[in-house]
Amino acid sequence: EKGGYEHFMLKEIFEQPRSIRDCMRGRIYPEEGKVQLGGIKDYTEKFKNADRIIIVACGTSWHAGLVGEYLIEEYARIPVEVEYASEFRYRNPIISEKDIVIAISQSGETADTMAAIELAKERGATIFGVCNVVGASIPRLTHAGVYTHAGPEIGVASTKAFTAQVTVLTLMAFYMAQTKGTITQSKLISLLIELEKIPDLIERTLLSNDYILGIAEKFKDSRNALFLGRGSGFPVALEGALKLKEISYIHAEGYPAAEMKHGPIALIDEEMPVVVIATKTSSYEKVISNIQEVKARKGVVIAIVTEGDTEVKNMADYVIEIPHADEAFLPLLATIPLQLLSYHIAVLRGCNVDQPRNLAKSVTVE
Ligand code: M6R
Repeated sequence: EKGGYEHFMLKEIFEQPRSIRDCMRGRIYPEEGKVQLGGIKDYTEKFKNADRIIIVACGTSWHAGLVGEYLIEEYARIPVEVEYASEFRYRNPIISEKDIVIAISQSGETADTMAAIELAKERGATIFGVCNVVGASIPRLTHAGVYTHAGPEIGVASTKAFTAQVTVLTLMAFYMAQTKGTITQSKLISLLIELEKIPDLIERTLLSNDYILGIAEKFKDSRNALFLGRGSGFPVALEGALKLKEISYIHAEGYPAAEMKHGPIALIDEEMPVVVIATKTSSYEKVISNIQEVKARKGVVIAIVTEGDTEVKNMADYVIEIPHADEAFLPLLATIPLQLLSYHIAVLRGCNVDQPRNLAKSVTVE
């Protein structure tokens, strides 16, 4: 059942090229520059007229929501707010019939996310679901939705469900951009052509598995770790930190790289591994300055870089390369090495990676 892998988590990490292909199947037509999402096609007008979108979710699904915020604002130019479902539901939020709520949940059973949906529904909002488990409670509560089709996820740590959620949100962002006319046809064509190749690039990224195991060996006894990123690299950093803490029990925090100087930089010394998303994006130069700040305080830098990078390589202690892709797809690629790093560290520490202590796969209590 584990398909020859030692753990479900590793199997599910390696399944990602396939799960993302499944997620995109029948939904993108690159040559025509067309995105087709059957589940939400009756709501085109709603998206066209939307003043804002509120995303509600918990845990890893909330991180996917943050990636969605970058993509929807960038391409569809609709303001997005991303809320923890547990905070949203108890805050007497301002919501009206004009609002669109997107609820993200792998299991489709998370109690806080369900309560957030019910509240928003009572106040007249239109609710879309992004769920993995077909026919679960959340898809039944929402007006419409888009399934992630990642297949069953057994490991408690979300891996392939996260990248499938990000894929769906990418498709939704492009779909909204298309209907609103905020993207040119030629730009959409080139993005979709690239998106279609992302599963192959993930396959290539997975080839670093043994190399990442080598890095994991160096950090298995760490007590803390920082994860830094900018732009859509920030939610990737948050997700990397969550993965490490939930399965290896190492205390880890994700931060926007520029926030470091507002506090966390005080933590840095030669004992502190700092994982930095330092790929060639619009914030590359800024991230380089942040790496310099860490190195000046003797922090140990593990950088995720674009293949062929030389500048970061000269500064970082360890680098993990990922293939070059449009900035829109960075989260899909940069997440992979972080999943592998956490996995190997947890296994080396003798942790039960598929069923970490104190955690359940679906959190059906508030
Ligand atoms: O099923 P959901 O996506 O609603 O679950 C939300 C969180 O409980 C979940 O993502 C959790 O954070 C994962 N264990 C993280 O790996």
